Amino acid sequence: MRRSEGHAPGKVILFGEHAVVYGRPAIAIPFAAVEATAVVDETSSEGLSILAPDIGEEVRLSRDSAHPLAVMARLVLEALGEDEPEAQITIHSTIPVASGLGSGAAVSAALGRALSSYLGHPLPTPRLSSLVFEVEKLHHGTPSGIDNTVVCYGQPVYFVKGNRPEPLHVGEPFWLVIADTGIPSATKESVGAVRAAWEQNAGKFEDLFDDIGGISTAARTAIESGRTEQLGPLMTRNQETLHRMAVSSPELERLIEMALLAGAAGAKLSGGGRGGNMIALVEEKTAGAIAEALCRAGAARVWTTTVNVTD
Ligand code: PMV
Repeated sequence: MRRSEGHAPGKVILFGEHAVVYGRPAIAIPFAAVEATAVVDETSSEGLSILAPDIGEEVRLSRDSAHPLAVMARLVLEALGEDEPEAQITIHSTIPVASGLGSGAAVSAALGRALSSYLGHPLPTPRLSSLVFEVEKLHHGTPSGIDNTVVCYGQPVYFVKGNRPEPLHVGEPFWLVIADTGIPSATKESVGAVRAAWEQNAGKFEDLFDDIGGISTAARTAIESGRTEQLGPLMTRNQETLHRMAVSSPELERLIEMALLAGAAGAKLSGGGRGGNMIALVEEKTAGAIAEALCRAGAARVWTTTVNVTD
Protein backbone atom coordinates (compact mmCIF):
# COMPACT_ATOMS: atom_id res chain seq x y z
CA MET A 1 0.00 0.00 0.00
CA ARG A 2 1.30 3.44 -0.90
CA ARG A 3 1.93 5.97 1.89
CA SER A 4 3.32 9.54 1.98
CA GLU A 5 3.94 11.98 4.80
CA GLY A 6 4.11 15.78 4.98
CA HIS A 7 5.12 18.11 7.81
CA ALA A 8 5.00 21.83 8.54
CA PRO A 9 6.14 23.78 11.61
CA GLY A 10 4.26 26.40 13.59
CA LYS A 11 5.37 30.01 13.32
CA VAL A 12 6.01 33.00 15.53
CA ILE A 13 5.67 36.59 14.38
CA LEU A 14 8.54 38.56 15.92
CA PHE A 15 7.49 41.99 14.65
CA GLY A 16 4.80 43.59 12.53
CA GLU A 17 1.55 41.65 12.96
CA HIS A 18 -1.60 43.51 11.89
CA ALA A 19 0.41 46.32 10.23
CA VAL A 20 1.54 43.66 7.72
CA VAL A 21 -2.06 43.38 6.50
CA TYR A 22 -1.74 47.07 5.48
CA GLY A 23 1.49 46.69 3.53
CA ARG A 24 4.03 47.31 6.29
CA PRO A 25 6.93 44.85 6.76
CA ALA A 26 6.89 42.05 9.32
CA ILE A 27 9.35 39.43 10.55
CA ALA A 28 8.43 35.84 11.36
CA ILE A 29 10.27 32.63 12.14
CA PRO A 30 9.27 28.97 11.92
CA PHE A 31 8.64 27.38 15.31
CA ALA A 32 9.53 23.70 15.01
CA ALA A 33 8.72 22.71 18.62
CA VAL A 34 5.14 22.36 17.41
CA GLU A 35 4.14 20.96 14.03
CA ALA A 36 1.39 19.60 11.82
CA THR A 37 1.73 16.19 10.17
CA ALA A 38 -0.33 14.64 7.38
CA VAL A 39 -0.11 11.01 6.30
CA VAL A 40 -1.74 9.77 3.10
CA ASP A 41 -2.58 6.06 2.88
CA GLU A 42 -3.96 4.21 -0.09
CA THR A 43 -7.39 2.69 0.65
CA SER A 44 -9.84 0.47 -1.18
CA SER A 45 -12.80 2.71 -0.35
CA GLU A 46 -14.04 5.22 -2.90
CA GLY A 47 -12.64 8.72 -3.06
CA LEU A 48 -10.55 10.81 -0.66
CA SER A 49 -11.31 11.19 3.03
CA ILE A 50 -9.45 13.43 5.48
CA LEU A 51 -9.43 12.62 9.19
CA ALA A 52 -8.29 14.92 11.98
CA PRO A 53 -8.87 12.66 15.01
CA ASP A 54 -7.46 15.20 17.51
CA ILE A 55 -10.38 17.53 16.80
CA GLY A 56 -12.92 14.88 15.79
CA GLU A 57 -13.15 15.98 12.14
CA GLU A 58 -13.93 13.59 9.31
CA VAL A 59 -14.16 15.20 5.88
CA ARG A 60 -15.02 13.59 2.53
CA LEU A 61 -13.86 15.48 -0.53
CA SER A 62 -17.08 14.76 -2.45
CA ARG A 63 -19.44 15.57 0.46
CA ASP A 64 -17.76 18.47 2.33
CA SER A 65 -16.42 20.55 -0.53
CA ALA A 66 -16.44 23.85 1.44
CA HIS A 67 -14.44 22.52 4.40
CA PRO A 68 -10.94 24.11 4.50
CA LEU A 69 -9.26 20.67 4.50
CA ALA A 70 -11.28 19.64 1.43
CA VAL A 71 -10.54 22.98 -0.25
CA MET A 72 -6.79 22.44 0.26
CA ALA A 73 -6.96 18.89 -1.13
CA ARG A 74 -9.01 20.07 -4.12
CA LEU A 75 -6.53 22.90 -4.84
CA VAL A 76 -3.65 20.38 -4.84
CA LEU A 77 -5.51 18.04 -7.21
CA GLU A 78 -6.32 20.94 -9.55
CA ALA A 79 -2.75 22.26 -9.47
CA LEU A 80 -1.44 18.81 -10.43
CA GLY A 81 -4.25 18.00 -12.90
CA GLU A 82 -4.99 14.80 -10.95
CA ASP A 83 -8.28 13.02 -10.22
CA GLU A 84 -9.46 12.33 -6.68
CA PRO A 85 -7.44 9.34 -5.45
CA GLU A 86 -8.76 6.47 -3.34
CA ALA A 87 -6.91 7.40 -0.21
CA GLN A 88 -7.21 8.57 3.36
CA ILE A 89 -5.31 11.51 4.82
CA THR A 90 -4.80 11.57 8.59
CA ILE A 91 -3.83 14.85 10.20
CA HIS A 92 -2.25 15.42 13.60
CA SER A 93 -1.06 18.72 14.97
CA THR A 94 0.65 19.79 18.18
CA ILE A 95 0.10 23.48 17.31
CA PRO A 96 -2.50 25.04 19.59
CA VAL A 97 -5.49 26.22 17.55
CA ALA A 98 -6.40 29.95 17.37
CA SER A 99 -3.35 30.98 19.36
CA GLY A 100 -1.19 32.96 16.92
CA LEU A 101 1.14 30.05 16.09
CA GLY A 102 -0.04 29.46 12.53
CA SER A 103 -1.98 26.25 13.10
CA GLY A 104 -4.32 26.63 10.10
CA ALA A 105 -1.52 27.35 7.64
CA ALA A 106 0.64 24.51 8.95
CA VAL A 107 -2.17 21.95 8.64
CA SER A 108 -2.84 23.04 5.04
CA ALA A 109 0.88 22.96 4.21
CA ALA A 110 1.38 19.48 5.69
CA LEU A 111 -1.68 18.21 3.78
CA GLY A 112 -0.46 19.79 0.53
CA ARG A 113 3.00 18.29 0.93
CA ALA A 114 1.76 14.82 1.78
CA LEU A 115 -0.86 14.67 -0.98
CA SER A 116 1.37 16.05 -3.74
CA SER A 117 4.17 13.61 -2.76
CA TYR A 118 1.67 10.75 -2.72
CA LEU A 119 0.67 11.67 -6.27
CA GLY A 120 4.32 11.67 -7.31
CA HIS A 121 4.65 15.44 -7.88
CA PRO A 122 5.82 17.19 -4.69
CA LEU A 123 4.76 20.83 -4.98
CA PRO A 124 7.57 23.39 -5.09
CA THR A 125 7.51 25.67 -2.03
CA PRO A 126 6.26 28.89 -3.76
CA ARG A 127 3.37 26.95 -5.36
CA LEU A 128 2.50 25.22 -2.08
CA SER A 129 2.58 28.56 -0.28
CA SER A 130 0.22 30.17 -2.79
CA LEU A 131 -2.29 27.31 -2.42
CA VAL A 132 -2.13 27.55 1.39
CA PHE A 133 -2.75 31.30 1.02
CA GLU A 134 -6.04 30.53 -0.75
CA VAL A 135 -7.16 28.45 2.24
CA GLU A 136 -5.93 31.13 4.67
CA LYS A 137 -8.51 33.44 3.10
CA LEU A 138 -11.22 31.09 4.43
CA HIS A 139 -9.71 31.18 7.94
CA HIS A 140 -8.76 34.87 8.08
CA GLY A 141 -10.75 36.88 5.59
CA THR A 142 -7.93 39.21 4.51
CA PRO A 143 -4.65 37.48 5.36
CA SER A 144 -1.36 39.19 4.61
CA GLY A 145 0.26 35.92 3.47
CA ILE A 146 2.91 35.84 6.20
CA ASP A 147 1.66 32.62 7.86
CA ASN A 148 1.65 30.48 4.71
CA THR A 149 5.02 31.93 3.69
CA VAL A 150 6.88 31.15 6.89
CA VAL A 151 5.40 27.69 7.47
CA CYS A 152 6.01 26.62 3.85
CA TYR A 153 9.51 28.10 3.49
CA GLY A 154 10.49 26.96 7.01
CA GLN A 155 12.99 29.77 7.52
CA PRO A 156 13.01 33.26 9.06
CA VAL A 157 11.47 35.78 6.66
CA TYR A 158 11.20 39.52 6.21
CA PHE A 159 7.78 39.84 4.64
CA VAL A 160 5.94 42.58 2.78
CA LYS A 161 2.50 41.68 1.43
CA GLY A 162 2.55 41.17 -2.33
CA ASN A 163 6.37 41.01 -2.55
CA ARG A 164 8.50 37.94 -2.98
CA PRO A 165 9.39 36.81 0.60
CA GLU A 166 12.95 37.64 1.61
CA PRO A 167 14.82 35.05 3.69
CA LEU A 168 16.22 36.78 6.76
CA HIS A 169 19.89 36.36 7.59
CA VAL A 170 20.35 35.89 11.35
CA GLY A 171 23.77 37.29 12.32
CA GLU A 172 23.90 36.08 15.94
CA PRO A 173 21.68 33.55 17.73
CA PHE A 174 19.04 34.78 20.14
CA TRP A 175 16.67 33.14 22.58
CA LEU A 176 12.92 33.43 23.04
CA VAL A 177 10.46 32.22 25.60
CA ILE A 178 6.99 31.71 24.14
CA ALA A 179 3.98 31.45 26.44
CA ASP A 180 0.36 30.64 25.69
CA THR A 181 -2.37 32.48 27.60
CA GLY A 182 -4.54 29.41 26.92
CA ILE A 183 -7.23 31.75 25.63
CA PRO A 184 -8.17 30.94 22.03
CA SER A 185 -8.69 33.97 19.82
CA ALA A 186 -9.77 33.83 16.20
CA THR A 187 -7.43 35.85 13.98
CA LYS A 188 -10.34 36.69 11.71
CA GLU A 189 -11.99 38.57 14.57
CA SER A 190 -8.97 40.57 15.69
CA VAL A 191 -8.12 41.42 12.07
CA GLY A 192 -11.77 42.44 11.55
CA ALA A 193 -11.73 44.63 14.68
CA VAL A 194 -8.57 46.43 13.50
CA ARG A 195 -10.18 46.98 10.10
CA ALA A 196 -13.32 48.46 11.69
CA ALA A 197 -11.19 50.78 13.87
CA TRP A 198 -9.06 51.78 10.86
CA GLU A 199 -12.21 52.63 8.90
CA GLN A 200 -13.33 54.86 11.80
CA ASN A 201 -9.98 56.58 12.24
CA ALA A 202 -7.69 55.94 9.28
CA GLY A 203 -5.23 58.72 10.20
CA LYS A 204 -4.49 57.36 13.66
CA PHE A 205 -4.20 53.77 12.45
CA GLU A 206 -2.00 54.60 9.46
CA ASP A 207 0.37 56.32 11.92
CA LEU A 208 0.36 53.25 14.19
CA PHE A 209 1.04 50.99 11.19
CA ASP A 210 3.91 53.28 10.15
CA ASP A 211 5.40 53.04 13.67
CA ILE A 212 5.25 49.26 13.48
CA GLY A 213 6.73 49.24 9.97
CA GLY A 214 9.64 51.32 11.28
CA ILE A 215 10.13 48.88 14.16
CA SER A 216 10.20 45.87 11.78
CA THR A 217 12.76 47.61 9.56
CA ALA A 218 14.97 48.44 12.54
CA ALA A 219 14.60 44.88 13.84
CA ARG A 220 15.68 43.47 10.49
CA THR A 221 18.91 45.48 10.62
CA ALA A 222 19.51 44.43 14.24
CA ILE A 223 18.93 40.72 13.49
CA GLU A 224 21.05 40.72 10.33
CA SER A 225 23.94 42.57 11.92
CA GLY A 226 23.82 40.45 15.08
CA ARG A 227 22.97 43.41 17.35
CA THR A 228 20.37 41.35 19.17
CA GLU A 229 20.50 43.56 22.29
CA GLN A 230 18.44 46.07 20.27
CA LEU A 231 15.57 43.63 19.82
CA GLY A 232 14.19 43.77 23.37
CA PRO A 233 13.31 47.49 23.35
CA LEU A 234 11.93 47.12 19.82
CA MET A 235 9.64 44.30 20.98
CA THR A 236 8.39 46.35 23.89
CA ARG A 237 7.71 49.33 21.60
CA ASN A 238 5.87 47.06 19.17
CA GLN A 239 3.74 45.78 22.07
CA GLU A 240 2.86 49.33 23.15
CA THR A 241 1.62 50.05 19.62
CA LEU A 242 -0.40 46.80 19.50
CA HIS A 243 -1.91 47.75 22.86
CA ARG A 244 -2.99 51.11 21.40
CA MET A 245 -4.58 49.18 18.52
CA ALA A 246 -6.66 47.26 21.15
CA VAL A 247 -5.42 43.80 20.16
CA SER A 248 -3.76 43.03 23.50
CA SER A 249 -5.63 41.57 26.49
CA PRO A 250 -5.27 41.57 30.30
CA GLU A 251 -3.90 37.99 30.19
CA LEU A 252 -1.30 38.89 27.55
CA GLU A 253 -0.35 42.03 29.50
CA ARG A 254 0.10 39.99 32.66
CA LEU A 255 2.45 37.48 31.02
CA ILE A 256 4.38 40.31 29.32
CA GLU A 257 4.78 42.15 32.63
CA MET A 258 5.89 38.96 34.41
CA ALA A 259 8.46 38.19 31.71
CA LEU A 260 9.91 41.71 31.99
CA LEU A 261 9.96 41.52 35.81
CA ALA A 262 11.78 38.17 35.58
CA GLY A 263 14.48 39.77 33.43
CA ALA A 264 13.36 39.52 29.78
CA ALA A 265 14.88 42.23 27.56
CA GLY A 266 11.53 42.83 25.82
CA ALA A 267 8.19 41.13 25.29
CA LYS A 268 5.09 41.36 23.12
CA LEU A 269 2.06 39.46 21.92
CA SER A 270 2.57 37.39 18.79
CA GLY A 271 -0.02 36.82 16.05
CA GLY A 272 -3.57 38.09 16.05
CA GLY A 273 -3.62 38.90 19.79
CA ARG A 274 -6.60 39.25 22.18
CA GLY A 275 -5.43 35.90 23.56
CA GLY A 276 -3.07 33.31 22.14
CA ASN A 277 0.66 33.63 22.63
CA MET A 278 3.27 36.13 23.76
CA ILE A 279 7.02 36.07 23.19
CA ALA A 280 9.87 37.35 25.35
CA LEU A 281 13.47 38.01 24.36
CA VAL A 282 15.72 36.30 26.90
CA GLU A 283 19.33 35.27 27.34
CA GLU A 284 20.36 31.65 27.29
CA LYS A 285 21.17 31.77 31.00
CA THR A 286 17.90 33.51 32.03
CA ALA A 287 15.55 31.49 29.80
CA GLY A 288 14.76 28.81 32.41
CA ALA A 289 13.92 31.29 35.18
CA ILE A 290 11.74 33.41 32.86
CA ALA A 291 9.93 30.32 31.58
CA GLU A 292 9.24 29.30 35.18
CA ALA A 293 7.96 32.76 36.06
CA LEU A 294 5.53 32.56 33.14
CA CYS A 295 4.29 29.13 34.28
CA ARG A 296 3.74 30.54 37.78
CA ALA A 297 1.90 33.50 36.25
CA GLY A 298 -0.64 31.08 34.78
CA ALA A 299 0.60 30.40 31.22
CA ALA A 300 -1.09 27.31 29.79
CA ARG A 301 2.09 26.27 27.92
CA VAL A 302 5.62 27.64 27.81
CA TRP A 303 8.41 26.90 25.32
CA THR A 304 12.00 28.09 25.02
CA THR A 305 13.53 28.32 21.57
CA THR A 306 16.77 29.44 19.95
CA VAL A 307 16.80 31.42 16.73
CA ASN A 308 19.94 30.08 15.09
CA VAL A 309 22.36 31.84 12.76
CA THR A 310 21.39 31.52 9.08
CA ASP A 311 23.30 32.39 5.89
O1 PMV B 1 -2.90 34.84 14.59
P1 PMV B 1 -2.09 34.34 13.46
O2 PMV B 1 -1.04 33.38 13.82
O3 PMV B 1 -2.96 33.80 12.37
O4 PMV B 1 -1.29 35.60 12.86
C1 PMV B 1 -1.98 36.60 12.19
C2 PMV B 1 -1.10 37.73 11.81
C3 PMV B 1 -1.88 38.98 11.39
O5 PMV B 1 -0.92 39.96 11.00
C4 PMV B 1 -2.70 39.52 12.55
C5 PMV B 1 -2.82 38.71 10.22
C6 PMV B 1 -2.13 38.47 8.90
O6 PMV B 1 -2.79 37.96 8.00
O7 PMV B 1 -0.95 38.83 8.73
